[in-house]
Amino acid sequence: MQVLAFSASPRRAGNTEFLLDRVIEGLEAGGVRVRKVRTHDLSISPCTGCGECERNGVCVIDDDFRAISGELISCDGILFAAPLYFMNVPARGKALIDRLQSFWVARHRLGLDLFGGRKRFGLLISCSVQAFGPDGADVFRGIEDTMRYVFDALGAEEVESLLVRKVDFLGGVAGMPDVLLRARRIGGELARFG
Ligand SMILES: Cc1cc2nc3c(=O)[nH]c(=O)nc-3n(C[C@H](O)[C@H](O)[C@H](O)COP(=O)(O)O)c2cc1C
Repeated sequence: MQVLAFSASPRRAGNTEFLLDRVIEGLEAGGVRVRKVRTHDLSISPCTGCGECERNGVCVIDDDFRAISGELISCDGILFAAPLYFMNVPARGKALIDRLQSFWVARHRLGLDLFGGRKRFGLLISCSVQAFGPDGADVFRGIEDTMRYVFDALGAEEVESLLVRKVDFLGGVAGMPDVLLRARRIGGELARFG
């Protein structure tokens, strides 16, 4: 099994990346190969809405998204770790997500199965300082909707998210042993996915 793990925080070893690393530990202990990619190390420009992907499900912009697309097709699971920024994903993570329009088109408009019918998983990891959004609803409602749509476009079954509220400063989540244990356990369980 090969898993692609995105860290979408601009903060290296921030709360979400710290949790991501614990999930990765659990996966690797179960014999899974994981490649971690920091979205802030990638050069992925925003979707221009040009509509070219409507023809064949392939994005025409030539940047790091090309290589990532190949990995997204071949992997067996996707981890997406992103702090909550204004109720959603930080900008570079969102640029990657918007470029997935090509995958959405392939699946929903062109009826292509890019993944050969393979069963894959998608896991969202996120941290926030608040517990509720401005309307009093759960703070993660927006990012969960976004990622549900993303994992659907990628033909991945979304497993229960790892969401941690009321954590803000660098290293905050490191002092939450129960959360870290849960993260490692999720990794171990995902190693047996499928
Ligand atoms: C630009 C920015 C926007 C943020 N927006 C929100 C938000 O909308 N809601 C919230 O609860 N926390 C928000 N936060 C707090 C982060 O989600 C929180 O600090 C998180 O633990 C950071 O995770 P990281 O260490 O992985 O980057 C924001 C932080 C920044 C820097």
